[in-house]
Amino acid sequence: MILVIDDDSAIRASLKLLLKRKGYEVVAVPGPAEALEIVRNTAPELILMDMNFSFSTKGEEGLELLKKVKIFQPNVPVIFITAWGTINLAVEGMKQGAVDFITKPWDNLVLLQRIETILQLTSGKPDSPSLPDKFDRSHIIGKSPALANVLDTVRRIARTNASVLITGESGTGKELIAEALHRNSLRSANPFVKVNLGGISQSLFESEMFGHKKGAFTDAFADRQGRFSMADTGTIFLDEIGDLDLNCQVKLLRVLQEQTFEPLGESKPRKVNVRVISATNADLKKMVQEKLFREDLLYRINLITIHLPALRERVEDIPLLAQYFADEMCKANSLGKVGFTKDALDYLATLPYPGNIRELKNLVERCALISGKDMLTADDIKAQYETAAGTGSIQLQGLSLDELEKASIIEHLNKFNNNISQVAEALKISRAALYRRMEKYNIKR
Ligand SMILES: Nc1ncnc2c1ncn2[C@@H]1O[C@H](COP(=O)(O)OP(=O)(O)OP(=O)(O)O)[C@@H](O)[C@H]1O
Ligand SMILES: [Mg+2]
Repeated sequence: MILVIDDDSAIRASLKLLLKRKGYEVVAVPGPAEALEIVRNTAPELILMDMNFSFSTKGEEGLELLKKVKIFQPNVPVIFITAWGTINLAVEGMKQGAVDFITKPWDNLVLLQRIETILQLTSGKPDSPSLPDKFDRSHIIGKSPALANVLDTVRRIARTNASVLITGESGTGKELIAEALHRNSLRSANPFVKVNLGGISQSLFESEMFGHKKGAFTDAFADRQGRFSMADTGTIFLDEIGDLDLNCQVKLLRVLQEQTFEPLGESKPRKVNVRVISATNADLKKMVQEKLFREDLLYRINLITIHLPALRERVEDIPLLAQYFADEMCKANSLGKVGFTKDALDYLATLPYPGNIRELKNLVERCALISGKDMLTADDIKAQYETAAGTGSIQLQGLSLDELEKASIIEHLNKFNNNISQVAEALKISRAALYRRMEKYNIKR
């Protein structure tokens, strides 16, 4: 049963109709007193709750009611209904245990999708119909408990429309996991559109994401399709979402919230149906505290968070990964099979891998290509590892990835006389991304 709580009788009636048509059993009540009477005795599968009752001013009543509901039914998922202007209130609700929020006026299809997603995620039945019968993990190598855990989550949520945030250090396989989510989803035959948000400048953001009409601005010589319409019916992968500046964040929030956007130069809003997967190696919670990332956007993108452990936290996967990368490399170059001595594998397991799996992959590929042997020893690998560390200027040797990044930014700032746009362009990152990194490394102009 879905419990609807709203003081507006027209809203109650329309929600009741909408949900009943979808086959849900619905009970709709006007206020907290009636609602509490119900949750005292029965556990609804889901509660859809307005935050602002007419006699209330700021929605504290919605929050108050949430607290009381949770006393009787701690596990029932609650979706708040809120006005766009009071979205911060919904964010407060999320902090206090609501699972989602939807802004008024809502789109019926978006609302139904959200409800369905939440019910799929919370039904908790191991044989829930949303589970795929066979899970395709191809190209994802490893049998560490850490990775098994990740894959288990992927398998559980792949066929829902839940927004997923994938976190983890550089090179841990975030993109690979995003692809696996899509491949195992009901949308797998539809587009998977990847957007690197760190690489889009603020001025091009809207045109890139939402498209434009010919003549919408000086350089718009032809119509252009944006990434959101390309991804329609499929999945959009928002990579490096922590690099997005605040201006663009609010534009993104709007389309994610309402599944509607307007191409530049077009006044009619367009509908899309996209599943959103984001990835970042930044600490978004910390960025929220520092006011660099919108909290409402964070809640919108991370109904589910998947954290990918660093390679050093799953060293038991190193031998499997090494052999896999060597095999792939040899196949691609029509070389005979290359193996590793026990010493070689032991040595590989001792390296620090700040670049994680990507670093291991590069190292193994170089070894397989260059050594010319069919059995690689610890010395072969050591030789390649040390050459790699020694490439570039000698001073860079032994620096961590972060230190290298910092050094490169300082060098470019000097070179371009502190001109942020030029530095960002030279480093092929957005200005926001540059600012964020300067702040991270405490670099002053
Ligand atoms: N478990 C795995 N099995 C096989 N290959 C993997 C695995 N994890 C990562 N890789 C490979 O390692 C490389 C880096 O992975 P990926 O690009 O997904 O990382 P990422 O987390 O997105 O990195 P970044 O933050 O730098 O964008 C890719 O070539 C990917 O195919
Ligand atoms: Mg990536």
